[in-house]
Amino acid sequence: MPYSRVIGTGAYLPEEIRTNEQISQTVDTSDAWIYERTGIKSRRIAGADESAASMAEVAARQAIAAANIKPEAIDLIIVATGTPDRVYPSTGCLLQQRLGIKNSVAFDVQAACSGSIFAMSIADQYIKSGAAKTVLIVGTEICSRIVDWTDRGTCILFGDGAGAILLAASDSAGIMSTHIYSDGEYEDMLYCPNPQVATGDNKDEPGYISMRGNEVFKIAVNTLGRIVDETLAANNMDQSDIDWLVPHQANIRIIAATAKKLKMSMDQVVVTLENQGNTSSASVLIAFNEAVRDGRIQRGQVVLLEAFGAGFTWGSALIKY
Ligand code: COA
Repeated sequence: MPYSRVIGTGAYLPEEIRTNEQISQTVDTSDAWIYERTGIKSRRIAGADESAASMAEVAARQAIAAANIKPEAIDLIIVATGTPDRVYPSTGCLLQQRLGIKNSVAFDVQAACSGSIFAMSIADQYIKSGAAKTVLIVGTEICSRIVDWTDRGTCILFGDGAGAILLAASDSAGIMSTHIYSDGEYEDMLYCPNPQVATGDNKDEPGYISMRGNEVFKIAVNTLGRIVDETLAANNMDQSDIDWLVPHQANIRIIAATAKKLKMSMDQVVVTLENQGNTSSASVLIAFNEAVRDGRIQRGQVVLLEAFGAGFTWGSALIKY
């Protein structure tokens, strides 16, 4: 059975930087509070002419160039996003069109901040079964447009961006295992209504992220601890076998708790949130790309990616890079 090997990565961050100081001019907060409680100093904000699909295209083209393949070689495109340009067609189809790719299938995955891990899990099944040979995955989000900029509990956290990864069938190791879960029992703890179609309790709510941050925080820490244990056990591995942790970038305190559980020094953890905030489904792929491009993650090393998001959804991917 073939492995899904990483053959290229890419990312895109919009130009505009919004600092904690700027946010503290419009809501009752401060740079010191935000940095201490989250580890975030600034985030990127997409321009008026940018969209999930336009950002996805830049990240995807970088990954394609890094892999040195022709776009036509891609036979499956999976886009993870909670902020699609249109309800339909999927952002996957919009990206397929932008890349000029024919003879492939494209679709979106909606698993909030865990979307890219879910997409990697799906891609791995396609590659292992022989149904696809080369898969493009992109996480792309314009969180700034679904954030209520008057809500200090959420507007400090999120940012915009896109990350991409290309996987190809290979005899040598790539993805070792993926583990994905969801539990809809927690649907009200973190959600974003869709005002045009909402009914019941969400009927008159605007389309902004709503979150019970402190409760989400505690469940995220416990859940990520469990998924890390499960991933190691499934691969007969010990904490010391992991070279790099690439976590979802929600809060530095959640990341530090997972690193502690793995007995990893923060030097082995890829952290991008200080200048990017939480880019939802894009965050893990943006961080992975950064550490590949700056040479921290080397071929042959073992990398653990993990994420947690609305649903709740959560998951991990263990990769021999
Ligand atoms: N600036 C200043 N004070 C703030 C604030 C802000 N931006 N946001 C909340 N507060 C206040 C609260 O009103 C509360 O005040 P009170 O004690 O007078 O009631 C106090 O700070 C503590 O609030 P709490 O929500 O318990 O803070 P916290 O330490 O949990 O930090 C988050 C809040 C949102 C930073 C944190 O809960 C978090 O990161 N949660 C997880 C988010 C996450 O991972 N979400 C996405 C998953 S993909």
